[in-house]
Amino acid sequence: MAKILVTGGCGYIGSHTLVDLIENGYDVLCVDNNSRSNAGILQGVERITGKKVKHYKVDLCSFDDTHAIFQENTDIAGIIHFAAYKAVGESVEKPLMYFENNLVSLINLLKCVQEFQTPWFVFSSSCTVYGNPDEQMVTEETPPKPAASPYGYTKQMGEQILSEFQKSNPATSVILLRYFNPVGAHPSIEIGELPIGKPMNLVPAITQTAIGKLPQLSVHGSDYPTRDGSCIRDYIHVSDISHAHTLAIRYLEEGRNLGGCEVLNLGTGNGVSVLEAIHAFEKVSGQKLNYSMGPRRPGDVVAIYANNDRARTRLGWEIKYGLDEMMDTAWKWEVRLKEDKQLFAMVDAQLN
Ligand code: WQD
Repeated sequence: MAKILVTGGCGYIGSHTLVDLIENGYDVLCVDNNSRSNAGILQGVERITGKKVKHYKVDLCSFDDTHAIFQENTDIAGIIHFAAYKAVGESVEKPLMYFENNLVSLINLLKCVQEFQTPWFVFSSSCTVYGNPDEQMVTEETPPKPAASPYGYTKQMGEQILSEFQKSNPATSVILLRYFNPVGAHPSIEIGELPIGKPMNLVPAITQTAIGKLPQLSVHGSDYPTRDGSCIRDYIHVSDISHAHTLAIRYLEEGRNLGGCEVLNLGTGNGVSVLEAIHAFEKVSGQKLNYSMGPRRPGDVVAIYANNDRARTRLGWEIKYGLDEMMDTAWKWEVRLKEDKQLFAMVDAQLN
């Protein structure tokens, strides 16, 4: 069975992707320095799959440590590269930390890919590369705009590095997956999102407000030119996102890929406003959310959602979860974190 190296495998999408890969017959390795994640999440992966995942606690910014993994595993067939810093606001305050971490790690990885001729490489990119698009619905051909943050620039530069690398290393095929807004938790509620500190993202902010960890949710802007004045996003269940990664590996494994460096949008194709997301949460959770209309958040895109035709036709990818399941699993995970002391201890360990 093909061996897949998952960097950032202790993270939110990384851990869900480990589960999906294992359930689809792949052998997996996890590389994660746990600077922004908790290795305890791998216990949840094991509870779901029955498989213990080999974890290398390595910083990809160390070429020697990264190279040693490839020397020990010369049979790595594919890499799914999640490991990166991703807090938009932090990247504005600390741009050099973001450029160094996100780009040096990628370059070290690609040096190993070049030396060991790894055939498949899947990159975790983001709808952030589109900036504030002229049209609300974006296709992969929509020209990227200036990024709204250094974090966004690291994703744009990452795509450019991979495109140029692939041209000079045709033995490696590359797929760039542009995520929209991943939310929710695995249906087993054994794994989910573990935000560090006060969550900046909407759905964990909703669930932490509902459970009482946060006093009130502020809606960042209600005067936008949208149907209800709040921003529109393409929220997509993390399990739909993770399964697309397995399908991308299978697409490469079966040689169906077109070669070169392919870009695919991973969104549902549905735009949902902040207020609509809040009302969906209230409906499925039965919780009345304490929220208020606040000022706009600098850097926010007004409205964006995906045209996902390419991923559906090339990968055979189908969306399984709707907005209600996204909110339902997110809420059940938040409740579990509060009630399950062992898990809670894991979160505590991560926060301190
Ligand atoms: C969504 C909407 C906020 C919190 C994120 C990542 C980006 C990419 C996509 C990874 C916005 C509003 C939020 C709150 C609010 N992910 N909001 N009150 O900004 O679309 O981008 O997902 O690659 O890197 O940053 O997601 O969840 O932060 O915000 O009103 O307390 O919710 O203003 O309109 P965003 P988000």
